[in-house]
Amino acid sequence: MKKTYLVTGGAGFIGSNFIHYMLKKYDDISIVNLDKLTYAGNLENLKEVEDDPRYSFVQADIRDKEAVTKVFKENQIDYVVNFAAESHVDRSISNPEIFVETNVLGTVNLLNCAKNAWLIGDDQYREGVKYLQVSTDEVYGALGKEGFFMETTPLCPHSPYSSSKASADLFVKAYFDTYHFPMNITRCSNNYGPYQFPEKLIPLIMNNTMGHKELPVYGDGMQVRDWLYVEDHCKAIDMVIRGGVLGEVYNIGGHNERPNIFIVKTIIGYIKEHVDDTVSEDLIRHVTDRKGHDRRYGIDPTKIKNALGWYPETTFEVGIKKTLQWYLDHEDWMKNVTSGDYQNYYKRMYANR
Ligand code: NAD
Ligand code: DAU
Repeated sequence: MKKTYLVTGGAGFIGSNFIHYMLKKYDDISIVNLDKLTYAGNLENLKEVEDDPRYSFVQADIRDKEAVTKVFKENQIDYVVNFAAESHVDRSISNPEIFVETNVLGTVNLLNCAKNAWLIGDDQYREGVKYLQVSTDEVYGALGKEGFFMETTPLCPHSPYSSSKASADLFVKAYFDTYHFPMNITRCSNNYGPYQFPEKLIPLIMNNTMGHKELPVYGDGMQVRDWLYVEDHCKAIDMVIRGGVLGEVYNIGGHNERPNIFIVKTIIGYIKEHVDDTVSEDLIRHVTDRKGHDRRYGIDPTKIKNALGWYPETTFEVGIKKTLQWYLDHEDWMKNVTSGDYQNYYKRMYANR
């Protein structure tokens, strides 16, 4: 049976990768991409599929009840995959309100619209429908040197970003507990790959190294993130939509923990070897640390491995090379996204560090 997906935030980093992944993998699906096109949304990311008859785009805000309801009226939506969010921790520290607006209120509006569209009786929904909330490992807070986040780890977010994501997760859970609303939540670790906006560590360091600009490393650079190639995240979401038990949370991560300084040095090394042998680690600048900076994240993916057979296919060593080469091969993409407003953002963000 042909399935129709409502993908929100599909013009962003992971959402656009997900749309590419799904359209390549399945012939018999259609995807409606609903995106507000904030600074992070970029239709360039979807140029290859814009004429595909299985794909359509609606520019709208997930908080807009009328617009979202219209999408449900005009399409027989089977699955909602909610990627739409304000996603950058540093921006949440300087401007928390929009994170509550989009990540919390936007999610609640989507839940309501999906519930209204799918309800066929008292707490009964059309057969086979599901809402998937794309969440993050950051809702669990920070780890010490030992241990991993499990689905049972208590939520303990620290930043305005992670607090808004945790709050959204609790609303999704409340809709399951209260209305038996069909849902799953996935909590993934740091993604990397093509189309990531260069406010995030890997594309930012890549772009600065190429331009011989200083490389801002927060604090001592020994904070640890658990890096996952974006396609492996897309594969996991697809598997949870198809096989996830309703009401369950699934953690996604591939045990690829690396300190930030290692990532930065890896990028310098790659560019030095393949593009420009004049770059060096002298570009590194240790700047003032992020407020409330979480020291370490690490996912335990045992549940999704055992329940659904998911495993990461791309090792960090392969994935990072693919990613850096993608940015080198798409210089125009990087030039476009770093023109205009980005320059002001960059100056504001790094002026006083
Ligand atoms: P992103 O910032 O690259 O993209 C977000 C997208 O959402 C953009 O296209 C933007 O235009 C859209 N958007 C923002 N506000 C909107 C609104 N009000 N209405 C409609 N669209 C709106 O983010 P990303 O890195 O692709 O992250 C996608 C999701 O995955 C987020 O929910 C994030 O919390 C989660 N996540 C990200 C990572 C990561 O490493 N990037 C890891 C785990 C989970
Ligand atoms: O863990 C999943 C999360 O990963 C997602 O939920 C978020 O949406 C996503 O943005 C990402 O959050 P991080 O804060 O971990 O990603 P970021 O790329 O901003 O930073 C990665 C690490 O690098 C973090 O420890 C801060 C550090 N950093 C970042 C930047 C931008 C630097 O040292 N210098 C920098 O210039």
